[in-house]
Amino acid sequence: MSQVDAPVPVAPPGYFEDLQAHALSPGWAKKVPQMWAAPRSRFVPAVWRYAEARAALDAACAFVSPEFAERRNLIMVNPVADNIYPTCRNLVAAYQLVLPGETARSHRHAPNALRLILDAGADTCTIVNGVRIEVAPGDVVLTPSWHWHGHRNGGDTPAFWIDFLDVPLVQNLECMFFEDHPQRNEPAAGDAPDSPLRRKGTDLARMAREEGTVDLATDRLHTTGVHALGLKHGERHVQPKRIDNNLYAVVAGSVRMQIEHFGAVELTRGDVAVVPCWHEFDIEGLAPESQLVRVTDAPAFEALGFRNVSALGKGE
Ligand SMILES: [Fe+2]
Repeated sequence: MSQVDAPVPVAPPGYFEDLQAHALSPGWAKKVPQMWAAPRSRFVPAVWRYAEARAALDAACAFVSPEFAERRNLIMVNPVADNIYPTCRNLVAAYQLVLPGETARSHRHAPNALRLILDAGADTCTIVNGVRIEVAPGDVVLTPSWHWHGHRNGGDTPAFWIDFLDVPLVQNLECMFFEDHPQRNEPAAGDAPDSPLRRKGTDLARMAREEGTVDLATDRLHTTGVHALGLKHGERHVQPKRIDNNLYAVVAGSVRMQIEHFGAVELTRGDVAVVPCWHEFDIEGLAPESQLVRVTDAPAFEALGFRNVSALGKGE
C-alpha cells in the first residue's frame, strides 16, 4: 500500500492479456487496494424489531408447515447491497417460532450456536446431545460446534427465540459440516435443567443487575462471546471503536443506543441492534432496570492474535 512517487510503469503490448491468461495480476497496478489504514466494515449498523418479526412469523404459520418448524425463522440480513445472509461479518441472527406441538428436527453442524428465549410456555425444551434442557423466557442456551440439537414445544403457547450463529465465519473459513440426525428427533435420555449449556433468565437478570456484565460462554464457544448486560436508568455503556462485531438484544426494560453512522434509536424487549466493527456506540438505560444480551465475535479475534492496533498505539 506504500505510495511510490515514480512514473507509472508502461507495459509492452499484450503483457497484461498474457498475465490474465495465466491467472496472474500485477501488484503494481491493482484495480482495488487490498490493505488500508484502519478497519472498514462492509456491513452497516441496523436494528430489527421483535414486534414486526413476530407478526411476520405469525403470518408465516398459515403457509409454512410444521415440517419446516426448524426453519420457520426470519434472518436478520444486514441491509447492504448484494447481501443475502450475514447480520455482520462473522455472525448471523434470526427470530424463530415453534408452535405448540411442533418439533424442530435434530441436527448438528460446524457452526457454534446459541439461542435467547423471548417467549415460551411450560414444556418447551432443547435436546442437546441426548439431554433434555427445558427453557424459559430470558434463558440463553448454548449449542457448541458439532453438538446434536433439536427443539420441542410441548406446551400450549407459541415459543419465540433468537438464534445466533457463527455461520458466516465458518463459511469464510470453509470448514462447514452439517448432518441431520438419523432418527429425525434425537431421543432424550435424561433431563438437565441445570445444564452448563443453559443460563437461566432469572439468574441472568439478577447477576446483570448486581454485577453489570456477566460472561455467559467462557470456554464453551470458541468463536463467540455471550454476555448479559444490566443497566439502571440513566446508566450508560460507552464503547470506543472496536475490531470485533457486536449484536445486542434487549431482554428486559428499554434502552437508547447511539451508534456512529446510524444515530439514536430506542429499543425494547426482543429488539436487536448490530454494531459492525469500528463504530463507536453507547447504550443508555431508559427503564429502572434494563437487561441486554451481547453476542460478539471477539473471541475469534483474540484466538487468532488480532488486536486493536490503533488503541495499542495510543498506549491503551
Ligand atoms: Fe442448528
